[in-house]
Amino acid sequence: MAEELIIQEGIGKEEKYQSLIPQIKALVTGEPDMTANLANIASALKYGMGFFWVGFYLVKNDELVLGPFQGPIACTRIQKGKGVCGTTWEKGATMIVPNVDEFPGHIACSSDSKSEIVLPAFKNGEVALILDVDSDQLNDFDSVDELYLERLMRIIEGLI
Ligand code: SME
Repeated sequence: MAEELIIQEGIGKEEKYQSLIPQIKALVTGEPDMTANLANIASALKYGMGFFWVGFYLVKNDELVLGPFQGPIACTRIQKGKGVCGTTWEKGATMIVPNVDEFPGHIACSSDSKSEIVLPAFKNGEVALILDVDSDQLNDFDSVDELYLERLMRIIEGLI
């Protein structure tokens, strides 16, 4: 397993994902520990893509509980249907929020977070965890992020 990411400078977002996703796949292949894998994925995304905050919330009993993440400290527990993360869990579908201040019920873990994308991963047809990626820029996520991060969620589903 490579223990160093190759992060190219001066390339566009899509090229960064195209370089990063296979590296992440190689990083987690053969490692059965989910905490270790999610921790490395959070770091790879934060440093590979330059995001403000990247982390996982795991479905535990009837709430989301904070899992491995990179960035400032965040709220520990989120109820179903609350905030962007709880709504993604409830809907079972990816959500892009271009301006968090305009999302009713947004949970502000950091006032520096301006936009976010949240994606679910499924196990046996149920949401098992969600990935939350935050930016300190407005309107920072689009269909390119959705395409590549959804590919990543399918890789994660192979691990859980
Ligand atoms: N903003 C999220 C909460 C998690 S933090 O941003 C890390 C939400 O509204 O669900």
